[in-house]
Amino acid sequence: MEQYVIKGGTPLRGEVDISGAKNAALALIAAAIMTDETVVIDNLPDVRDINVLLQAIEGIGAVVVRLTRNSVKINAGTISSVTVDYEYIRKIRASYYLLGALLGRFNEAEVALPGGCDIGTRPIDQHIKGFKAMGAEVKIEHGMIKTKAEELLGNHIYMDVVSVGATINIMLAAALAKGNTILENAAKEPHVVDVANMLNSMGANIKGAGTDVIRIKGVEKLHKTEYSVIPDQIEAGTFMCAAAATRGDVLVKNVIPKHLEAITAKLLEIGCTIEEYDDAVRVIGTDNLKCTQVKTLPYPGYPTDMQPQIVVTLAISQGTSIVTESIFENRFKYVAELNRMGANIKVEGNTAIIDGVSGYTGAEINAPDLRAGAALVIAGLVAKGFTTIDDIKYIQRGYENFEVKLRNLGANIEKVSSEKEAMKFKIKVG
Ligand code: EPZ
Repeated sequence: MEQYVIKGGTPLRGEVDISGAKNAALALIAAAIMTDETVVIDNLPDVRDINVLLQAIEGIGAVVVRLTRNSVKINAGTISSVTVDYEYIRKIRASYYLLGALLGRFNEAEVALPGGCDIGTRPIDQHIKGFKAMGAEVKIEHGMIKTKAEELLGNHIYMDVVSVGATINIMLAAALAKGNTILENAAKEPHVVDVANMLNSMGANIKGAGTDVIRIKGVEKLHKTEYSVIPDQIEAGTFMCAAAATRGDVLVKNVIPKHLEAITAKLLEIGCTIEEYDDAVRVIGTDNLKCTQVKTLPYPGYPTDMQPQIVVTLAISQGTSIVTESIFENRFKYVAELNRMGANIKVEGNTAIIDGVSGYTGAEINAPDLRAGAALVIAGLVAKGFTTIDDIKYIQRGYENFEVKLRNLGANIEKVSSEKEAMKFKIKVG
């Protein structure tokens, strides 16, 4: 089993290139199977969730050719099945995008109920509500979601909660439905806009993505495109927090600074210096980080996917910080691990009360999910002594070359798969 071993205490310094956004790319791969022509997706992150989804579409007959590590050519003209029950697909949340994509193109889809990170109950009622409003029947049987429509018809759909997944899924299906769909209370995340842009480049007619009302005029057919995934705002934010927490100085490159505003605002509040460029953000830490309050909210609010990383930073900032998680109810599980590293955090309901301590000490810990895992790596980078992190498979779901990028910034981190390798690293770095 692979682990990260980290010797903390070195401020991160240098430049890091951010990869394409995992959560955008997952939806773009689903969009790519909505045409029988060839789609090329560039700036695709080489991470586990993406590779699983590519295998899943191959499993139903699409032809997937890796042009380079970060570029893929997909031709879905050969799709022979609308049933996706591939063993691994259950583990990734975004498998549900295949429902919208297949329903849109073939009026029928059967996909295993999605899994994903264990951060709360994660219902999909809004996806189902949208499909039903377009005239589809939806049943859940034997762990599969089955949906079918005589004819998919556009409709006026009001979302009861702001959901990234449901917004994208309904947009996918509605792109090829008959007539107009108006989606109200839509999510505004950058990846919603990215999916609309790619669909439009394939001939769809989608307006308003990035606002809370999206208008989709269904078209008969989608065609080929070549599209580049937007930069990953969460990967970027993770490196920004790593720079702040280690009191480092990092230029985070290949980003869209506008997408990072909520994170930038919080790091400024706690005393970091931030310089913004056209496509880069420089974060300079300080020895006197201060407390603040954070509440996770849908975009443009502070992202839930950046909650653990800011908690790790605030836990070593002076004073008492309050962090409220308003999107997922179970996203503070990592706090127990962080307290084992010396943090002083109490969780009450969906709120973490954080009394800043002067630093962490290394420990053997587990990564409970993707973002919490990345945040615990940051804690390890700060900690005195060695930290060993188990279950890094969660981190590998969403961060490309994480340890390599950190090493390039001066971190002492190694991915090991045996006790012997761990010892070798510990002896090397002292
Ligand atoms: C996406 O999940 C991301 N996943 C998550 O990233 C991210 O945390 C989340 O959006 C919020 O930004 C992917 O893009 C694959 P939601 P998603 O639907 O779409 C409730 C990561 O670390 N809800 O926006 O599943 C839901 O319970 C992952 O990369 C319903 O009630 O999230 C939650 O409280 C983790 N009914 C809220 O809405 C529904 O039908 C937002 O969830 C759908 C959602």
